[in-house]
Amino acid sequence: MHLLRLAAAPLAALLLAFPAAAQKPAAYEPQVGQAGKDVIWVPTPDEVVERMLRMAQVTANDYVIDLGAGNGKIAIAAAKLFGARALGIEYNPEMAKHAQENVEKAGVGGRARIQQGDIFVTDFTQASVITMYLLPALNLKLRPQILAMRPGTRVVSHSFTMDDWEADETSSMDGRRAYFWVVPANVQGAWALEVTGGGASDKTELTLEQKYQKIEGNVGLGPLQGGLRDARLRGFNISFAYVDMKGVRRDFTGRVSGGRMEGSFRADNGSEGRWVATRK
Ligand SMILES: C[S@@+](CC[C@H](N)C(=O)[O-])C[C@H]1O[C@@H](n2cnc3c(N)ncnc32)[C@H](O)[C@@H]1O
Repeated sequence: MHLLRLAAAPLAALLLAFPAAAQKPAAYEPQVGQAGKDVIWVPTPDEVVERMLRMAQVTANDYVIDLGAGNGKIAIAAAKLFGARALGIEYNPEMAKHAQENVEKAGVGGRARIQQGDIFVTDFTQASVITMYLLPALNLKLRPQILAMRPGTRVVSHSFTMDDWEADETSSMDGRRAYFWVVPANVQGAWALEVTGGGASDKTELTLEQKYQKIEGNVGLGPLQGGLRDARLRGFNISFAYVDMKGVRRDFTGRVSGGRMEGSFRADNGSEGRWVATRK
C-alpha cells in the first residue's frame, strides 16, 4: 500500500504541473508525404488552391467536392473565399477528423464538411465542381465517372492530366500546373434537324462526331453533305455553322438536353430563326 502510494506520488505531481496534458491526448499532426490509400498526402499550396477555384469560377451557387481532401484546405477555401457548399472526401479516418476540425476552426462548418470515405466508392455526382490532386492513373480511373456527370460540371486537377481528354485551360505558377475541364454533353451521332425562320422551314440531318469536348460533322444539303464550320461544344452549350445551298452562311447556337438540342440561328443575309434537333 505504502509502496503504491509512493509510486503514485510523482505521477500526481506531474498531473498537477501539466493538467492540460492529463486531459487531452496529443493533437494529431499529419506529416507531408504520409501514406494514403491510393496516394500520399501532400497539400496543394495556397496560391494553387486559389487559382484552381478561380479557374472553375466557383460561386456561392456551387457544390465543390474535393476528391482526397487531405487537411481539408480546398473545401475550406471554397467555402471561405467563394461562399460555396463544399465536401472533402478523405479515406484516412484520422486525417478526415483532423480536416473536419480545421473546417470548424475556419468557421465554415455551416457550408463545408469532410467525410471519411473512399473516392472510388463514394458518390460524388452531385458536385458542380470537382477538385483533385491525385495521380495520373487515378485521374484516368475516375474519368468515366466524371464524363458521365451532368454536362457543364467543372473539373480541376492539380499537377495531373486526364490523358487524351485535353484540358480546356492549363495554368502554371511556380512550376506547378493546374488543369481545367468542363464535362461535355453527349452529342455523338445522327440528329434530325429542323430549322424554322426567315420565311422557310427546312428538315435535314445533322451528323456529329465527338471526341470529348471536340466536335465536327456535317449537315445534309440535298444531294450533298455540307461540312460544319466552327463546331464547338462547351458543357451543354453547342455552336456550329454551315453554308447552305444558296451560299448563305448560317450560324447556330443552342443547348443540349439529353436527346434534344435547340436554339437560334443567324444567317449572313440577315435572316434569323430557331432550330431543334432530336436524336435519331
Ligand atoms: C496529394 S493529397 C491532396 C490533398 C488535398 N486535396 C490538397 O490538394 O491539398 C491526396 C489525399 O488523398 C487521400 N487519399 C488517398 N487515396 C484515397 C482514396 N481512395 N479515397 C479518399 N482519399 C484518398 C490521401 O490520404 C491524401 O490525403
